[in-house]
Amino acid sequence: MSTRPRIYLTQKIPEECEGWRLLRESCDVKVYDEIETGHMIVPRDQLLRDVRGVDALYLALPVQVDAELLDAAGPQLKVIATKSVGLNHIDLAECARRNIPVGYTPDVLTDAVAEATIALTLATARRHKEGIQAVHGGQWGKTWESSLYLCGKDICNSVVGIVGLGRIGLGVAKRLRAFGISRLLYCGRASKPHAAEVNGEYVSFDELLKMSDFVIACCSITPENHHLFNADAFGKMKKSAIFINASRGILVDQDALYVALASGQIFAAGLDVTTPEPLPPDHRLLTLPNCTVHPHLGSATVTARHAMADLSARNALAGLRGEPLPAPVPLI
Ligand code: DGY
Repeated sequence: MSTRPRIYLTQKIPEECEGWRLLRESCDVKVYDEIETGHMIVPRDQLLRDVRGVDALYLALPVQVDAELLDAAGPQLKVIATKSVGLNHIDLAECARRNIPVGYTPDVLTDAVAEATIALTLATARRHKEGIQAVHGGQWGKTWESSLYLCGKDICNSVVGIVGLGRIGLGVAKRLRAFGISRLLYCGRASKPHAAEVNGEYVSFDELLKMSDFVIACCSITPENHHLFNADAFGKMKKSAIFINASRGILVDQDALYVALASGQIFAAGLDVTTPEPLPPDHRLLTLPNCTVHPHLGSATVTARHAMADLSARNALAGLRGEPLPAPVPLI
């Protein structure tokens, strides 16, 4: 029997990635094969079987890590490497209790997610979904008699409110500054010294909602901010406001968002993240012309995904060797 450490990957790594070579060099690698099963995401019962006896677990969203999975893996499990910066799919307290270090992928995806957030903000403000639907549906031209046909909102001269001015929030703010926005507000648990780089003004959540033309959620998920964007929050926003979610679906009460959009309480929303993912194609949010939904494309560039794959491999290998991880999640 091989004495090499065993690692289980819930998703293939592109073979050209350095991380793939490194893992293959020193581990027995088992990879979930979505082609074989026809499911993109490993079914839970198969996952529970596949992880039995592994020394390292290398996972991609939306695989959930909890006590059941850790029990299924067994006490020899030395490290978890998640190919994400978001961590709400992992029970970190349970990992800490078992002394299992968790590695993640901050920084390497910041630019990709910030760019995707700008793209979603522009697409939502300028009504790209309705425009594309009009082209495909043969309505293009029929309504040009109105000079306000498919008119949207300007970013320039607007007040932008960023909820969570962390790495990604700052990346979004820097890019939006180039659009000539009038003010950049932000809120969060504390003011941030780096806000000076974007002339950011620290305000309360309520003030941000009331004053912003664009409300952009870039925060990480905590037990306190589930459904932070609820009926009350949408009620405080301007009727002309645009809401963008680049964080996680759990931040939003989607029923309240539906009502806010359908009743014209806010102008439009752009969501890169939803609950659940994938959002069922018959979900009522998708019926709204003023709701643009992207399939969680934040980090979806080849460069970012390769860098995430490599960093996750290095996290896993360091954990297997009992060394400090290159990008450890601070244990709680
Ligand atoms: C992450 O890594 O958490 C991002 O949501 C991926 O796009």
